[in-house]
Amino acid sequence: MFRLSQENPDDIWDVEYLFDLSFAPGREALSSYRLREGIAPVADLCLVARDVDGTVGGAIRYWPVVIGEERWPALLLGPVAVHPTHQGEGLGALLIKESMARAKELGWTRVILVGDAPYYSRFGFAKADFLTFPPPTNPDRLLYHALQEGAFDGVSGLIGKADQASVFSR
Ligand SMILES: CC(C)(COP(=O)(O)OP(=O)(O)OC[C@H]1O[C@@H](n2cnc3c(N)ncnc32)[C@H](O)[C@@H]1OP(=O)(O)O)[C@@H](O)C(=O)NCCC(=O)NCCS
Repeated sequence: MFRLSQENPDDIWDVEYLFDLSFAPGREALSSYRLREGIAPVADLCLVARDVDGTVGGAIRYWPVVIGEERWPALLLGPVAVHPTHQGEGLGALLIKESMARAKELGWTRVILVGDAPYYSRFGFAKADFLTFPPPTNPDRLLYHALQEGAFDGVSGLIGKADQASVFSR
């Protein structure tokens, strides 16, 4: 049985360890990490799943980004990972659904990510061919989801780095 809580500073190394375990070496060379550099994650949406012993079974983080020259605010979902011994138990779905529900409550309207469409389509994500992610990124893996109907209407362009102020103007 896992309980979700907001990631706090004491969780950082457990979560980093989980991400190192779950992703190929060199994950920080991905272009998504360039969008995160020097920018604080959206703390309210960074969740950790711990079992009754306190062991971390899964975690999710989000960063603010902006889209196009108009700098429309959006959330970049990820990284998200579930410990290999607990994959396939619904923990990934729990982390994604709970964090996106919180994001909606907080007034965020747009979520993007780079990932596998066959997994994320169950949460309402679809291919974002009107958006561009900084290279090198396979465009087929760039996905979007509107937390509010029409949130992506008229929105297009290159995903860019947020300035910290955009966290407060969704
Ligand atoms: C992707 C991940 C977070 C999913 O978490 P999880 O708790 O195992 O997933 P859930 O239990 O919610 O869902 C399991 C289902 O998703 C499917 N699934 C998992 N990863 C998938 C993928 N990459 N592509 C397609 N389907 C996937 C499983 O086959 C399973 O399908 P089923 O419901 O038909 O049996 C987890 O597998 C993981 O940490 N993977 C390694 C890190 C990673 O790739 N993170 C995502 C980066 S984009």
